[in-house]
Amino acid sequence: MADAPSEPTLSVRGLTKRYGDTVALADVDLAVRGGEFVAVVGPSGCGKSTLLRVLSGLEDRFEGRAAVDGDDVREGGSDAVGMVFQEPRLLPWTDVRGNVAVGLPADVDAADPDARARIDELIRIVGLGGFAERRPAELSGGMKQRVSLARGLAYDPSVLLLDEPFSALDRLTKHEQQDHLSDACAERGTTVVLVTHDVEEAAYLADRVVVLGDQPGRVETVVDVDADRPRERTDEDLLAVRARIVEALGV
Ligand SMILES: Nc1ncnc2c1ncn2[C@@H]1O[C@H](COP(=O)(O)OP(=O)(O)OP(=O)(O)O)[C@@H](O)[C@H]1O
Ligand SMILES: [Mg+2]
Repeated sequence: MADAPSEPTLSVRGLTKRYGDTVALADVDLAVRGGEFVAVVGPSGCGKSTLLRVLSGLEDRFEGRAAVDGDDVREGGSDAVGMVFQEPRLLPWTDVRGNVAVGLPADVDAADPDARARIDELIRIVGLGGFAERRPAELSGGMKQRVSLARGLAYDPSVLLLDEPFSALDRLTKHEQQDHLSDACAERGTTVVLVTHDVEEAAYLADRVVVLGDQPGRVETVVDVDADRPRERTDEDLLAVRARIVEALGV
């Protein structure tokens, strides 16, 4: 894990977000260091997606402060941040390759041979090598989700926000994608906030797991994951971490 810089890469202080009478998040504090991998778990409706929306600059009406690299997210969000949404949100009129290319940074030409090679590599990595010319309507839910993940990785952000990116995948595919994500982010030093319902996934991937409670959404507890990397899924330390998360969730 990287040494803690003076200002964390992601900083949330006293964040309260209301939708009318609904308090989606109440007085949430969170600091994420550069290169850290944080998982966020909690019951449905507790404000996980809302937290990512705030961090990505999509919400400007909230109480408290949220900053990326010291810049207030209300200024429109940081170019450093990439987001993979809970719903794949693919463009229906273009194929897998076109959809992944949407994720390229604005200054990269998708027709450039290097960019094209990178897009095809990402498509292969998410296991869709034979589907580059298929449109979203011809893909399964889990395949669409992987296109969305590849699009997020194409941007190669220094901060990656992931909203349940593996929820529609079978166990084997999920494990492969988790390992790829973990390797890719460790290699690039990417700072990650991963929202998931999957306690096993949170413990396996994260340096720290933030457990949110609901009504209203607030930080229940934070569990440090001290297991060495590379990790074994059956590592006893991880089993203990999973038990602590489950206990905090009260499930
Ligand atoms: N645009 C919106 N308008 C009104 N209420 C909203 C809106 N977005 C979210 N909410 C409410 O805010 C709360 C938190 O929603 P959010 O989507 O952040 O939950 P979540 O933790 O991501 O849930 P899930 O695990 O089901 O994805 C919920 O009560 C939801 O109804
Ligand atoms: Mg959500």
